[in-house]
Order: sequence, then structure tokens, then C-alpha cells
Amino acid sequence: MDERYGKIYRSNLFGEPTIVSADAGLNRFILQNEGRLFECSYPKSIGGILGKWSMLVLVGEMHHNMRMISLNFMSSLRLRSVLLPEVERHSLMVISSWKEGAVFSAQEEAKKFTFNLMAKNIMSLEPGEPETERLRKEYITFMKGVISAPLNLPGTPYWKALKSRCSILEVIEKKMEERRGRMGGGDQGGGEEDDLLGWTLRRTSLSKEQILDLLLSLLFAGHETSSMALALAVFFLAGSPKAFQELREEHHMIRARKKKKGELGLNWEDYRQMEFTQCVINETLRLGNVVRFVHRKAIRDVRYGGYEIPSGWKVLPVFAAVHLDPELHTEPQQFNPWRWQKRGAGEAAATSNFMPYGGGPRLCAGSELAKVEMAVFLHHLLLKFRWELPPAQPDSPFAFPYLDFPKGLPITVHAVT
Ligand code: HEM
Repeated sequence: MDERYGKIYRSNLFGEPTIVSADAGLNRFILQNEGRLFECSYPKSIGGILGKWSMLVLVGEMHHNMRMISLNFMSSLRLRSVLLPEVERHSLMVISSWKEGAVFSAQEEAKKFTFNLMAKNIMSLEPGEPETERLRKEYITFMKGVISAPLNLPGTPYWKALKSRCSILEVIEKKMEERRGRMGGGDQGGGEEDDLLGWTLRRTSLSKEQILDLLLSLLFAGHETSSMALALAVFFLAGSPKAFQELREEHHMIRARKKKKGELGLNWEDYRQMEFTQCVINETLRLGNVVRFVHRKAIRDVRYGGYEIPSGWKVLPVFAAVHLDPELHTEPQQFNPWRWQKRGAGEAAATSNFMPYGGGPRLCAGSELAKVEMAVFLHHLLLKFRWELPPAQPDSPFAFPYLDFPKGLPITVHAVT
């Protein structure tokens, strides 16, 4: 760091002159001026792994088109009628496989849940099928490459991730060809399945390469982040018996109400009643910071409140710094879900500084789905189990700079009634 100006400072990161912002106002300004003053600018290595048609690297009209496809796929109608029941089915599948008293990795189980959910909804892959398992394993290698130094030498994590990318694309391409083949000549080749693959084949004019990158990167964006968020919730709740208890009561009440009405699966009305759960989710994302910062660059000379950002410079809005800023949050290092229940003017300001899903024209396309995943998974988890972090295998989230539980967050579970 060569110069410091409080929350906004100049540095040299990723080999380029960079403005690092821990300032809530500047972060908002950067995100809201996407395409006008700033542009998304991830390191080239990310583009190499996710592909040149990935939404994370695209800008302008093509980004907008891909974004619309993703938003349509996760529309609120689909979320209520298709995705919520799917989220419940996949949550139960994972949770009901757990054995009383055994130690296992909560992070890995959370990944299994979010991966299976996305693989099913993106291309109708069922959990446990050999293709699904192969893909899931490839994504583990893939992720290690995304978070590593971009050294493309045999044996490095980056090199392995590039190989994984090829294997993942092979699986997706095979699925695509099967789907096209099944539909035969006349049709555009979408098949009947209500998944993203069918949807893009039927309703868009994307090329094969574009569809491959879209599916690969949605599968990536849609499972790594929400599984990390779930693991963080498990971690924070283990350390906060009061929050655990209040959360359990909320879900017990929902279950009791449903029993009375003779209803089985969760529906949107039940989800809307999970109010304290939403506080727990917000607090988990504020304190846990799944995505700590995003990559941007200035595309014009920019003046902001006395600072000058030269065109071409990298800009890193660091959400984590704002989320942990003691000027904005009392006792920012404490897990305190109740802070989200307050509705005063101060809290409204804090809410507008809360950006776990980014903001502006690139706001996370899956934020609503992520919340449903966390709420529904927690519902079944709390009704079935209490859990502990075994003292012999302590683990906590670590950012280097991407967040991870180095040991995968080992936990033991005990059945509750
Ligand atoms: C708690 C979980 C999640 C967090 C914290 C999160 C966070 C983020 C953030 C910060 C961005 C903005 C990146 C940028 O501006 O450069 C983003 C983008 C995105 N996220 Fe999420 N995400 C989550 C879950 C999901 C899920 C479940 C999906 C589902 C597919 C998803 C799909 C996407 C997509 C497609 C984008 C790119 C949007 C665009 O460029 O227009 N995310 N996410």
C-alpha cells in the first residue's frame, strides 16, 4: 500500500494500480455506475476458467442478455412453484442421510445440497447418478483453481482447474447433444425437461459455446456461495445458543401450524413466516462475508468526494470492510441477528450499506434463491438435529482472500424431537 486515505486508499494489487474502497458510499457509487464510469473487471485467470461467455466477465449488451436468461430462470413465479419444493426435496435428501453422533464436514454436506439442487435445475441431473458425482468432484478441483494463483504449469491448482473445466464442459455438451437428439429434426432441440438447458435451447439463439459457459458458470456461482453461507450459519449458530433456540422456536411454530392445517411440504406462505430466520441469514452474510469484494475498473477519469480515480485503474469495493465497520454496526464482530429486527432510521442506513449480493446492474441473480435455500435447509435441520463443533477438530472461516473452512467445518449431530 503506498498511500492511505482512511477508508479509500491506493494500492498495487493483482499487478495493477488499484483503488481499494472500504467506504460504503463509494462502493454504492461504483456498483450503481456500472457501464457508465466503471466496468466489471475480473483477473484474466478467472475468465480462463469460467469462460469468455461467463456472466462474471461479460460486459455490455451480452452481459445483459445472459443476465435476463438467468433472471427468467429464477423468476419469483418459478421460485415459488418449482424451486422451493425442489429446495425442500434436496435439503431432506442430504439431512436424512446423517448419522447420529458421527463427525462429518458440514461444508461438504452443504455443497452436496446446493450442487445437487443446481445440477437438477440446470440440466436435470439427479443426485447420486455417476454423471452428477463426476461433475461434483470436478467442481471441487475447479474451485481450488479459481481461488489459486493463475500459474498454468503442470500440477498447479490452476492447471488442474483448466483440465476440470474441459471435463465439466464434456459432461454438459453430452447432455446438450442427447437433448437435441431426443427431440429430433423439426424442433429447436429443447426437450421437455423444465430445466435451464431446455429453456436456453428452446427460447434463445445462444451458440453452443455460449450455452456451455452459461451453464458451467451458473452451476459454479449457484453452489459455491450459498453452500458457504449455509456452513457459516451452522458455525455461527453453534456459538450462539440463544439465537439457535429462538430460531428453533420459529420453525417449531411453523411446523405446528402446518400440522393443524394438515399440510405437508413447505409453501411460500410458510417461507414468508420465517422472519427471525431472515435476520439470521442477514447476520450470517454480514459477519461471514461470503463475497468479500468484487473487481471493477474505471472506464473514465472519475471524481468522487475529492478523490480522483484515473481511467483504467482497478477498483475494489470491499463489502466486508463496510459490514464490519464499527461506525455502522455496534459490536460488529458479534453475531447478533436481533440487530436486523430494529427498524429505526439508523438501521435503514445500515441496511443500504449491506451488500452481500453486490448491487446495481450486476446484483446477484440468485439472491432470492439463496435465501430460500438457507431458510428451508435450516428449517429441516433445526427440526431434526442439534449440532456441536467437536473441540478436538476446531475450525473457523478463513479468508485468503476467498473464504473457506480449512477443515471443512467438522460437526456432530444429535437427533431432537
Ligand atoms: C449467499 C449466497 C450468494 C452470495 C453471497 C452471492 C453473491 C454474489 C455477488 C456479490 C455477486 C456480484 C458479483 C459482481 O458484482 O462482480 C453475485 C453475482 C451473481 N450471482 Fe450470486 N451469490 C449467492 C448465491 C447465488 C446463487 C444461489 C446463484 C444462482 C445461480 C447466484 C448467481 C449469480 C449470478 C448469475 C451472478 C452474476 C450476476 C450478473 O453479473 O449480472 N448467486 N453473487
